[in-house]
Amino acid sequence: MKLTRRQILTTGAALALLPRRAFAAMPELVAAESRQQIAPGGYPETAIWSYGGGTPGTEIRVPQGGRVSRRLVNRLPQPTAVHWHGIRIDNTMDGVPGLTQEAVPQGGSFDYDFELPDAGTYWYHSHNRSMEQVARGLYGPLIVDEPKAPDIDRDIVLMLDDWRLDPETAALDGNFDNGHDLSHAGRFGNLLTVNGRFDPAFEVKNGERLRLRLVNAANARVLEVGLDGLEGWIVALDGMPLESPLVVSGAFPLAPAQRADLFVDVTAESGAAASLLSIERDGGYGLCRFDVTGQAAQARRTAPEALPPNPLPEIGDLAAAPLHEMRLQGGAMRWLDSAMLGDTEMGGRELAQLGKFWALNGRADRPEAPFLDAARGSLHRIAFVNETNFDHGMHLHGHHFRLIGANGTPGPWRDTVLVPPGETRQIALVADNPGKWLLHCHMLGHAMSGMTSWFRVA
Ligand code: C2O
Ligand code: CU
Repeated sequence: MKLTRRQILTTGAALALLPRRAFAAMPELVAAESRQQIAPGGYPETAIWSYGGGTPGTEIRVPQGGRVSRRLVNRLPQPTAVHWHGIRIDNTMDGVPGLTQEAVPQGGSFDYDFELPDAGTYWYHSHNRSMEQVARGLYGPLIVDEPKAPDIDRDIVLMLDDWRLDPETAALDGNFDNGHDLSHAGRFGNLLTVNGRFDPAFEVKNGERLRLRLVNAANARVLEVGLDGLEGWIVALDGMPLESPLVVSGAFPLAPAQRADLFVDVTAESGAAASLLSIERDGGYGLCRFDVTGQAAQARRTAPEALPPNPLPEIGDLAAAPLHEMRLQGGAMRWLDSAMLGDTEMGGRELAQLGKFWALNGRADRPEAPFLDAARGSLHRIAFVNETNFDHGMHLHGHHFRLIGANGTPGPWRDTVLVPPGETRQIALVADNPGKWLLHCHMLGHAMSGMTSWFRVA
């Protein structure tokens, strides 16, 4: 481990050089084993890993332009690191072991201290063995408040997760890297939770306007989210405000790591319950309930205005921007014939024996050379071409990008794009944040079994 200035500077003379801020104790974010009632009442508690004693971890909430300062203290039985998902962050604080920092060993700590340029709904999660560590509960909400609070009655963070628990004991299934999950859709669970609980309830009033901040923290499951007894709009995706709020009609997809901010009005009557639903082939399942008691003080509001835009870069002339193709390859039924692993070309069978089932442009795992070497400030288009039989949620670190619509015009800002099997999604990226940035599938089992690359901005 590198010595920090604090450890080096021990003499009185040296102390005078110490920046003031170093004296203020940094609040700790302790990652440790704990227990929580994840399954419905009547089942035993589940042994989990968490930040600050429960999952989701401690809510971190800061005003836009403010800073997050947290000392990660690792009391887990494995090395770890924290990634601040969706934050256009200083590269050294991005939390990617082997790329931006060393993993924090057992008993070790790491000081994260960074600025928040954008308002919105973000989250933090482990980025070491994330396939296992996120599944065990190592994630939490990171909320950045707009300078002027929007006109709503309640602000509710809803972190959605999908747990694979033993149906008798409610113990977490510990078989994290089995080849079947890795080579198919990923680790699907058998219990959907909101904020680490089964079917929690919130008290609301008829006519109230709620801001629901949805975060899909699941390893692999793409949720189709629906509303019952609530009517409203999507106002932001992946933290970034939409230019105009989008009416929710029917279900909308939320891939792992994606967020959606909704403004919804409670239309269910007093005495009834509204709910957030997961729409599946055989119907809708309640994710959480809103128990309606009484009437809001004010009459129902008119449609909301857009949230104020974040200071995102201008997207220039798209037609002039270089187009880079990233082909998503492998997985069950489209098995890799061969791919590069490091500088070795390997056959599909050999790769499978090493637990590698996927490749990006013929490379499994993060290669030595970046997928893209971008000059700071340059505009690029990336086409994700899904040649596999599965969904992939491609995520870029350190940047948001604009999804390019079928008609070629720039759509919403996102940090994670869902690419369905056999389809292509094109994005536009202004590479304005210097450093080494991961680009990977956020189905965490896919990321670990080959679907990880990176790009460099200098
Ligand atoms: Cu949510 Cu590589 O991260
Ligand atoms: Cu994937």
